[in-house]
Amino acid sequence: MSNNKTFTMIKPDAVANGHIGAILDQIIKAGFKINAMKYIALTEQTAGKFYEVHKERPFYGELVGFMSSGPIVAAILEKDNAVEDFRKLIGATDPAKAEAGTIRQLFAESIGANAIHGSDSSENAKIEGDFFFSALEKF
Ligand code: PPS
Repeated sequence: MSNNKTFTMIKPDAVANGHIGAILDQIIKAGFKINAMKYIALTEQTAGKFYEVHKERPFYGELVGFMSSGPIVAAILEKDNAVEDFRKLIGATDPAKAEAGTIRQLFAESIGANAIHGSDSSENAKIEGDFFFSALEKF
């Protein structure tokens, strides 16, 4: 499978804290092109379905509650080596462990409210992008 796309969400904490512009700026400056983008609010049901793979994990309820607590920005991004490069740009899941200059180190509040999502594989990037966007919405 080609590795030139990844999927991201700017999470409710970063949206509420006014960081959409600064985060998109970092993403674009890092060389990613926007293939698709939308500003939406997830219901608990939709967030629950998106994160179904984590259903058995202890934080599942908290994660679903948080992701449906306010609007998000969902996007498909394009770049060579997109998944790996984007995971480097956003930093570790726990912002306390994220490298200096990464999006989570700069903008995240906690391991739960951690500002941004990035797909962990090209396969999941395709599944996650298709979860949010129809063919008509992708460029
Ligand atoms: S990852 O990216 O899948 O390797 O990260 P992982 O540690 O497996 O976490 C999966 C998603 O769960 C979120 N998470 C948490 N939410 C609330 N509380 C706690 N303690 C917690 N730990 C992890 C984490 O932000 C991941 O969300 P996404 O949207 O995939 O980044």
